[in-house]
Amino acid sequence: MKTMIVVKDLWKSYGKHTILKGLNLEVFEGETLVILGRSGVGKSVLLRQILGLEKPDKGFVEIKGQRVSSMSQHQLEGALQNMGMLFQSSALFDSMSVGENTSFYLRQHEDLKEKQIADRVAEALTMVGLEGTQNKMPSDLSGGMRKRAALARLIVYRPTILLYDEPTTGLDPITAMHINELINKTKKELQATSIVVTHDIRSAIEVGDRLAFHHDGKIAQIATRDEFFKIDDPLLQAFFENAILTEELLPHRSKRRP
Ligand SMILES: Nc1ncnc2c1ncn2[C@@H]1O[C@H](COP(=O)(O)OP(=O)(O)O)[C@@H](O)[C@H]1O
Ligand SMILES: [Mg+2]
Repeated sequence: MKTMIVVKDLWKSYGKHTILKGLNLEVFEGETLVILGRSGVGKSVLLRQILGLEKPDKGFVEIKGQRVSSMSQHQLEGALQNMGMLFQSSALFDSMSVGENTSFYLRQHEDLKEKQIADRVAEALTMVGLEGTQNKMPSDLSGGMRKRAALARLIVYRPTILLYDEPTTGLDPITAMHINELINKTKKELQATSIVVTHDIRSAIEVGDRLAFHHDGKIAQIATRDEFFKIDDPLLQAFFENAILTEELLPHRSKRRP
């Protein structure tokens, strides 16, 4: 298996608070890696490091063998052409229509004719199930539709690395299920390498090839989806206990209950 992303001995503090404490992680080409962890543990901080938005105090991130922290602005922009991040707040531009939103990064990434842009926008919107919504405004959309439009805005430039920050948080279960399906579909169609940060165990099961547990500044556990739920780690078990859906999703655990 080819390695796409390496995170090596990564340290990051804000003032007196040390958030990442020598975190190591390897992401393989074409896989979806899910990072689970409690709120505030540093999952978004880690994604920002991978995107090169913030510099580490120590350690490094490598993408396809290239160190993100030592890239020039120009090299970083080149690397970012292949990466897309779905932020937790969908962050659509409210004054732009769905079509304008969807073409926004595409215009920055590629020099295309208007007709080609329109075709790519239509294709991306169709892929996320929003065909024909080009002229709608973000305020006309539901939360789930906004999330999809934000995803269309990314997949339109066909990135090969996709980072999702809490893609299902705040969505109802049916909408969340659609987003999970879309993450899987995007992976397949773009043959993308994806990192999905979440505390939604159902989502983790549906999209993850491998699952990781982010705890106390490090990746405390990492395993394939099937192996992950067999890991005998009290901290991980405590995390599961806290996740509302755990009982019905993990039959081997609920069986132990009277
Ligand atoms: N830019 C920042 N300045 C100061 N503290 C920050 C900054 N970004 C994150 N933090 C702190 O780092 C911790 C981890 O944050 P975050 O990565 O957002 O957690 P989560 O795992 O929920 O995504 C939190 O305590 C947060 O307050
Ligand atoms: Mg976060």
